[in-house]
Amino acid sequence: MTDGLRESIAAAQATWNRKAVGSQRASASAGTPEYFEQIRDYRYGYETPFIPTFIDFPSLNGRKVLEIGVGHGIDGAEMARHGALYTGIDVTQNHLSLAEKNFQLNGLSGKFIEGDLLETNPGHDFDAVYSFGVMHHISAEAEYLARVREVLNPTGRLMIAVYSKWSMFNAFMVTSWLLKGRGRSLDDWRSQVAEHSEPGHPVTIKIRSRREVQSLLESRGFRVEKYGKKGFVQNYLPVVGKQLAPDGRVLDAFASALGWYHCFVCQVTPSGNQKT
Ligand SMILES: C[S@@+](CC[C@H](N)C(=O)[O-])C[C@H]1O[C@@H](n2cnc3c(N)ncnc32)[C@H](O)[C@@H]1O
Repeated sequence: MTDGLRESIAAAQATWNRKAVGSQRASASAGTPEYFEQIRDYRYGYETPFIPTFIDFPSLNGRKVLEIGVGHGIDGAEMARHGALYTGIDVTQNHLSLAEKNFQLNGLSGKFIEGDLLETNPGHDFDAVYSFGVMHHISAEAEYLARVREVLNPTGRLMIAVYSKWSMFNAFMVTSWLLKGRGRSLDDWRSQVAEHSEPGHPVTIKIRSRREVQSLLESRGFRVEKYGKKGFVQNYLPVVGKQLAPDGRVLDAFASALGWYHCFVCQVTPSGNQKT
């Protein structure tokens, strides 16, 4: 493992072992049914309501799925509920425990692995690999994608969402940094605002154009089948935003220009198509 990857994993662990992703959205005690319900409601009812369509949970029935970066296991539980044979891998113990608890409370089964994809064996012949909001935190992303390709079966698909450069949220972070972030690096500021990391201890965050991400995917042996720019929430539009449906056409139109996520569904290309 390179020093860069080791550092990016250590930063991720320090941040999310201290505070689980999105936990500020729940008022109930961590690990209770109400807690997971509140996190789920916020996720599918406000912040990222496009996820169920993007993933198409029912299509995963009977499919072997690997999720990289499990968070609270909200999407994972939905997959398992729809009949997916689920494995989740993460480097953060806190998230693995919470995700397992969420599965347990819902009577779902799944396999959870603590570790790094480059150094563990999660199995092979997966029908799908899913990773939402994770790959941009990994310094050795190209190596990860090559590894993902190895564990997918020849007709497998990769579904990922990563941060987009031309987005309302990034514009907000840059503007607030210019106004208030004196003496701090933009990376540090952005990490604190977006990921709640401690000042001075940023997680790796890559913010890119669609073209940059797509050429990385293609260079690692994936063909993009579907793309959507998503993630534009009501609060971005003062006054009128609250009148608009979180997953309605108006916010979706804004998202296609200024959304926070690039969402890709990719197919493995025949071997030999990987560029070095
Ligand atoms: C922002 S959270 C997203 C979690 C979840 N997918 C979601 O959407 O809520 C990033 C997740 O990626 C995990 N992560 C970071 N680096 C990782 C790595 N090298 N391998 C696996 N997971 C990693 C973190 O521990 C964390 O669970």
